[in-house]
Amino acid sequence: MQSDLEILPQSQERMRGNEILEFNMTMRNIRPIQDPDKPKVYIETYGCQMNVNDSEVILSILQDAGYVLTEDMDEASIILANTCSIRDNAEQRIWGRIDQFRLQKRKRDGVVIGIVGCMAERLKDKLLEKVDLVAGPDSYRTLPEMIEAVRPDSPQINVLLSHEETYADIAPVRLDRNGVSAFISIMRGCNNVCSYCVVPYTRGAERSRDPQTIVAEAQELFDNGYKEVTLLGQNVDSYMWEDEDDMDRNVNFAQLLEMVAQISPELRVRFSTSHPKDISDEVIYTMAMYENICKHIHLPVQSGSSTMLEKMRRKYNREWYLERVAKIRSVIPDCGLTTDVIAGFSGETEQDHKDTLSLMEKVVFDSAFMFAYSERPGTLASKKYPDDITYELKTERLNEIIALQGRMSLRSNEKEIGKIHKVLVEGPSKKNPEQLCGRASNNKMCVFPSLGEKAGDYCFVEVESVTSATLICKRVDEDITEL
Ligand code: SAH
Ligand code: SF4
Ligand code: F3S
Repeated sequence: MQSDLEILPQSQERMRGNEILEFNMTMRNIRPIQDPDKPKVYIETYGCQMNVNDSEVILSILQDAGYVLTEDMDEASIILANTCSIRDNAEQRIWGRIDQFRLQKRKRDGVVIGIVGCMAERLKDKLLEKVDLVAGPDSYRTLPEMIEAVRPDSPQINVLLSHEETYADIAPVRLDRNGVSAFISIMRGCNNVCSYCVVPYTRGAERSRDPQTIVAEAQELFDNGYKEVTLLGQNVDSYMWEDEDDMDRNVNFAQLLEMVAQISPELRVRFSTSHPKDISDEVIYTMAMYENICKHIHLPVQSGSSTMLEKMRRKYNREWYLERVAKIRSVIPDCGLTTDVIAGFSGETEQDHKDTLSLMEKVVFDSAFMFAYSERPGTLASKKYPDDITYELKTERLNEIIALQGRMSLRSNEKEIGKIHKVLVEGPSKKNPEQLCGRASNNKMCVFPSLGEKAGDYCFVEVESVTSATLICKRVDEDITEL
């Protein structure tokens, strides 16, 4: 990973706000339905949380059409990769995987290979030379017919983007996780057109999903034992449901948050991603009002330099960002704050880079996803601004950013020592199965002794010591806390 300038801190093992962590769902905790007579589909998922949720939508559509999931590519008749285009290396990895998928075709007759998701949308028929099926993020409803129509000389493609599709009526088949925490997409697409970013081209225009269907989905998850939902969108703060008949019944993001939080105090609500230009005081106050809305905001800054931010078309500057952080902390003093940073955007000077470092020192983020700038064809930046920072300099700056964030994460965690947290148990700790792990409201990972609890239970813990990634805790009684 390091060689292609995409480095994830080890502390960030779990999928979070637009995290560019890829994983193979088939390696996770899935229990495929066993039915030898049904055709089997194998899905690999790359990219952000929205793609993870999309794979769950895809599986729902395919299950309704009579397919079953398999975790073994060797027995699959349909092999799908749900792909990401955010940086060049994300795409390079998929090209490598396609070659491996094609080996399956040589071994067995009738295997269908499909590329779906953002890379399908971006590269369109370029992919058809290598695979049988190409489907963009808004065309998953047509997958069953497309699969049926595939013939050796007739690959299928549907990359139409929609202004309406939200898959609101589809109940995603929960593929991953431990039955405790689930993603709910509340909107699709993005209208922001940040100059470096490919997402508006791969996912199309922004559209919000009917809030009633969101609440119904969250309620159903809760009724089925889930304890945490994460509301997903590229820019959740611009969520807006417009009621056709009555404007007074429009729903904005703060109102949606409240509606979901009111399902039950036992159901935690998280959300991602917030855009610094759009996060409103109303959202911050709503978070403060409900104990079960987790006190964590993923607020990607991208750069600490106002010059770079303007060129990136982020529509805020350094001062604006710092004011939003100050507002969040004045209303919710213990709010977890995480971010995304891009190193080496076009024309970035030593001073711009120093501005990023100084902003990070000022804010002290709990953690960050840090990337080297990767020019994406078709974006505004690719047309207007040269990719003129050398690989070596990008790497050097990125490494400096990563090293600083390591120190900041430790500093932020050290402040937790002695604090008491309510933690939602996720399961046994990976390093020590005798212990449990789970997240505090501020999203920090806690490890603590088990008293026989299981995933989905709440526990109270006190932080005794820390690493830059984890809070090491002891157990405390619920009634000594004032949470
Ligand atoms: N909608 C979210 C971000 C989605 S993409 C937001 O606006 O905050 C996730 C992250 O990938 C971005 O925050 C950015 O840090 C990174 N990213 C996007 N395009 C990139 C590019 N061309 N090169 C490097 N990193 C990029
Ligand atoms: Fe990309 Fe900007 Fe939209 Fe985020 S807000 S998805 S960075 S265009
Ligand atoms: Fe997500 Fe990657 Fe697409 S980050 S929106 S899967 S380009």
